[in-house]
Amino acid sequence: MDFKEKILVLDFGSQYTQLIARRIREQKVYSEILPFNVTIDRIREFDPKGIILSGGPSSVYDKDAPLPDKEIFSLGIPVLGICYGMQLMAHTLGGKVAKSAKREYGRAELIIDDDSDLLKGMAEKKRKVTPPILPLLRGGAGGVVVWMSHGDRIEKYPKGFTPIAHTANSPVAAMADKERKFYALQFHPEVVHTENGTKILKNFVFDICKCRPKWTMHSFIETTAQEIRAKVGKDNVVCAISGGVDSAVAAVLINKAIGRQLTCIFVDNGVLRKGEAKKVEETLKKHFHMNIVCVDASQRFLKKLSRVSDPERKRKIIGNEFIRVFEEEAKKLKGVKYLAQGTLYPDVIESVSFKGPSAMIKSHHNVGGLLKNMKLKLVEPLRELFKDEVRVLGREMGMPEEIIGRHPFPGPGLAIRIIDRVTPERADILRKADAIVLEEIKKAGLYHEIWQAFAVLLPIKTVGVMGDERTYENVIAVRAVKSVDGMTADWAKIPYDVLGIISNRIINEVKGVNRVVYDISSKPPSTIEWE
Ligand code: XMP
Repeated sequence: MDFKEKILVLDFGSQYTQLIARRIREQKVYSEILPFNVTIDRIREFDPKGIILSGGPSSVYDKDAPLPDKEIFSLGIPVLGICYGMQLMAHTLGGKVAKSAKREYGRAELIIDDDSDLLKGMAEKKRKVTPPILPLLRGGAGGVVVWMSHGDRIEKYPKGFTPIAHTANSPVAAMADKERKFYALQFHPEVVHTENGTKILKNFVFDICKCRPKWTMHSFIETTAQEIRAKVGKDNVVCAISGGVDSAVAAVLINKAIGRQLTCIFVDNGVLRKGEAKKVEETLKKHFHMNIVCVDASQRFLKKLSRVSDPERKRKIIGNEFIRVFEEEAKKLKGVKYLAQGTLYPDVIESVSFKGPSAMIKSHHNVGGLLKNMKLKLVEPLRELFKDEVRVLGREMGMPEEIIGRHPFPGPGLAIRIIDRVTPERADILRKADAIVLEEIKKAGLYHEIWQAFAVLLPIKTVGVMGDERTYENVIAVRAVKSVDGMTADWAKIPYDVLGIISNRIINEVKGVNRVVYDISSKPPSTIEWE
């Protein structure tokens, strides 16, 4: 993609590297991450308006310390070093780095010594509260809260630099060589705990690098659509639609670019949520006039699953069978040369290993096999976007909130929520119970606060009494969790009233269930799914 004004982030392995790129894109300036050891030619070709050196776990004195090509300091473009990036700048440009007497992790108070360019406006909030605060800050009476994470510190700054801020433990917590436009920070401006951290990034990107805020979703759609047309020519493209956000947004974007040259295949594997297949078909067909083939392969999947209780075997069966069905259908189409996928940026960032560049790219879901067997080339229009940008893109293209804002749903679907063997009857019971959970969560206005809410069908029966009859029926567990990324999660504190309605409705409306329990486990030590 050719957005003229771009910021390059060189990755030295910090957990926050992706966050730096995201913060810059939030300012409508395009930013990409490359491993620290890319060649200078690749950097020249990328043609950034500025370079940010990320943090990282190494010390510049480590035997295998990651070091970039020194030429980056001769390109005549601004450079901002963050944490390890700062130490690396000091080390490379003639300063001295040493072990800190005291390591600094977490919160620290930054005293600003020069707020004329990079740190402009950083103390702003405080100044508003107590007008003459800046002189006080310089005198050391409290400062701006910043987030530190370092073991080394700058002992002597390189020639041409001057310190622009300090903390109690770091005499040079920020430094600048205004002449060459080199800047460095000991703390992390990209994390939310750093007060006014975004201001620093804005100052760097707009004032120092002279970028303009041109990277908008609208321009992304236009440019990407053109790129897709140029790449695909007159050939046809096939895309697997799962009902998830990424594949749907990718399909809508490609459809916008090439219309009927795209065919989407939606496979009903028999373990989808209630009404799912119909909803996806309706939305994409009616709303976007897309070419969709819906395949009801539920019998095939359910037959294969009928005697299986091991969760990992269930996953494998569903993955493999999906590939088979998809291939059969795709072969019926003419002139297909491309496979579209909703691969996202975090899946394609070349990760940094500290022994050298690993340049490893993760394989994506189940469809890897399709490329080999069918000799297709890839179209991945979202490979430059983060997840939240995909949602913005979807909304920009007019996709309904029902698709854009929906909870994640696992590829193996309800099969890993039917504990033990999956049968059509058990899938039916779970589908009904699950629909009630979601309906009531939405009705109570809780859907968007919750990461995932669903029902699980347990492999035990319990005794109950309905009317005057003794019953011996299934148990449904309700699971609802709050999470930011699915890596950790806490059980949602749903009001008792809502849980009461869910339980009542399931027992009354779903034949074969006489007990409902609520799962109150967090992750870790439990997982979100039961299998
Ligand atoms: P766990 O259960 O590991 O789930 O805490 C974390 C997130 O991953 C989803 N998940 C899956 N998604 N295929 C998928 O596409 C799978 O096999 C799978 N297993 C779990 C889960 O729904 C949750 O969002």
